[in-house]
Amino acid sequence: MDLFSAIDTEPVRQRMEQLGAELDRLNYEYYMNDRSLVSDQQFDAMMRELQDLERQYPELASPLSPTKRVGGEVNKSFRQVQHRFPMLSLGNTYSIEEIEDFEARTRRILNSQFSILNSQFSYTCELKYDGVAIGLTYRHGHLVQAVTRGNGTVGDDITANAKTIPTIPLRLRGDYPDDFEARGEVVYPFEAFNAFNEQRQAEGLDPFANPRNAASGSLKLQDSAECAKRKLLFCMYFMMAPDDVPLPDTHYGRLQAASQMGFKVQPYIRECHDIGEIKAFIDYWDRARWDLPFGIDGIVIKVNQTALWDRLGLTAKSPRWAIAYKFKAERVSTPLESISYQVGRTGIVTPVANLRPVSLGGTVVRRATLVNADFIADMGICVGDSLLVEKGGEIIPKVVGVDMEKRQPGAMPVQYVVRCPECGTPLVREEGEAGSYCPNADGCHPQIIGRLEHFVSRRAMNIDTLGPERLELLYSAGLVRNVADIYDLRRDQLVGLGTDATIQDRGADNLLAAIDDSRQVPFERVLFALGIRYVGEVGAKKLARHFGSMDALMAATEEELAQVDDVGTVTAHAVCQWFADAEHRAVVERLRAAGLQMQSADSAQDSLLQGLTIVVSGTFERFSRDEIKADIESHGGKATGSVTSKTSYLLAGEKTGPEKMKKAAKLGIPVITEADYLAMTQKADA
Ligand code: IVH
Repeated sequence: MDLFSAIDTEPVRQRMEQLGAELDRLNYEYYMNDRSLVSDQQFDAMMRELQDLERQYPELASPLSPTKRVGGEVNKSFRQVQHRFPMLSLGNTYSIEEIEDFEARTRRILNSQFSILNSQFSYTCELKYDGVAIGLTYRHGHLVQAVTRGNGTVGDDITANAKTIPTIPLRLRGDYPDDFEARGEVVYPFEAFNAFNEQRQAEGLDPFANPRNAASGSLKLQDSAECAKRKLLFCMYFMMAPDDVPLPDTHYGRLQAASQMGFKVQPYIRECHDIGEIKAFIDYWDRARWDLPFGIDGIVIKVNQTALWDRLGLTAKSPRWAIAYKFKAERVSTPLESISYQVGRTGIVTPVANLRPVSLGGTVVRRATLVNADFIADMGICVGDSLLVEKGGEIIPKVVGVDMEKRQPGAMPVQYVVRCPECGTPLVREEGEAGSYCPNADGCHPQIIGRLEHFVSRRAMNIDTLGPERLELLYSAGLVRNVADIYDLRRDQLVGLGTDATIQDRGADNLLAAIDDSRQVPFERVLFALGIRYVGEVGAKKLARHFGSMDALMAATEEELAQVDDVGTVTAHAVCQWFADAEHRAVVERLRAAGLQMQSADSAQDSLLQGLTIVVSGTFERFSRDEIKADIESHGGKATGSVTSKTSYLLAGEKTGPEKMKKAAKLGIPVITEADYLAMTQKADA
């Protein structure tokens, strides 16, 4: 840097530092102390100023700048890193007796083997957060790396996403060890989780089953700006360091120190001196846990004095100085008031129990799935019964049985519907299937709309401007009856549609542009979008790879279909049946005419060596032996080791065995070189 630019940028650098420090302070007060010292607008203005300066002077930007909280770094795949200290798990139990045993055993070992008096040790009891474990490495007070637990030895580097979590300090305050790891759980607080799930459903996406899965998915997002929007919370529960770095000598002291450094340490931790105090803590939280803003699934009990940890040692995978008590799922009994039947896009009918509202695990439960006819029969549910409903780690309540104590004398078994509740068509139940379905695919409203919704959904054709409301609108206007109709829509039909002209000029243009874009969606997703029963995303991919084109797939027999990896006879049958329907074939032809992808982009490449058996021998310039074998297979060929009459070619590298050459000559099998192979697989000029 020359003298002039050094002088020029100094005030900028100072301003950036000042903004960074102030934003750090405001963040800290807001997230750690629940205090807003400035208005949102003031905060945003400072953040924007710093972002602008960082864009203008990237060389002056700090990797730990509070702007990183907003995210923006994109990670295509997460680097795997080895944990410096393995991430152990804890022994866990649902039984209070086993907690008593743990306490008694620990006390006995400490008293008798190590002559440690009761007054010389204690336990800590704290919450067992229900989220995703991560480890944060800090050097010289700076966050340098965040890694998921993974298999305990190796995890994923999720640093960019972790930086967006406000309760993970980027720079520590006060006194801190020079080199240490902070461990804790990333949880998705209920309020933010529910809002996020509602938004997903509004967008036609499947909701996450529980906050833990959603937290885990968030940490693996490629775009850290997306992760920043998720409002995750980091709860610190553990600190460790290399032997030469001193830490406080109790677990409790370490967490207190961490809190001074700027970590969010939940205040619900208690030092306990005997089993009575431990049990009281467990009892209290078993009831009070539903009032917490985030999920916990138990209580963790640790020996407080860290010097005793080594003495107590480890079992194969967990320390002897700690244990987790897991809460049993909460269960209530409530009367079944009626059963509704929902019809999905494939016609599958799902019975849903309408329950007398009952409070369970912090929310009021009104409905729960009864899965299918077999589920109801297996449980022997009768009219007028009360059902047992449970809520475990899942947010979604589950019916687990009938409350026999409340069974009415002479109660009659529930009669499952025999006609579709939506269109009145008699339901069909195929042999070996647990559920029944409505066969009136083309005349049953929820099926028609459901198929359209599936077709346009993000993972299928991704026509995101066509939400459920618009589809309903287009359907009732008679413009869209099946998925092929979407591609016939014209601008003049769209503008002004809806009672209050819901679709305007811009909306119509955007919609047509999104429809047009969908013509480029790869074949495998087109196949998935058709909504054939049992053909999910993975199945569609496998079928598309194997057959390469819609025509080949349509021509396949049930036996041929069933030979594809992971495609069972049930799916094969469903695919065959689907294509046997003349109306379905007509839809496919219209989609083809509309320009949708009906062929795998790489199918030609994939089948260059179809049907050829190639013997590989010797060494090669461009490939290792294993690589060239894999390459042959990737083009549909078979790589084998010995020359027989069935061999198509002997691919001979340097030092090919003379026996193989002789045998090939004897059987008249052509010998090819690496250059020939490259030409055959169209890699010659690469
Ligand atoms: S201590 C060596 N404390 O529960 C001790 N773990 O198997 C390390 N967990 O995967 C764990 N809350 O992620 C500890 N307060 C807490 C915890 C906690 C949740 C998780 C942890 C681990 C699992 C135990």
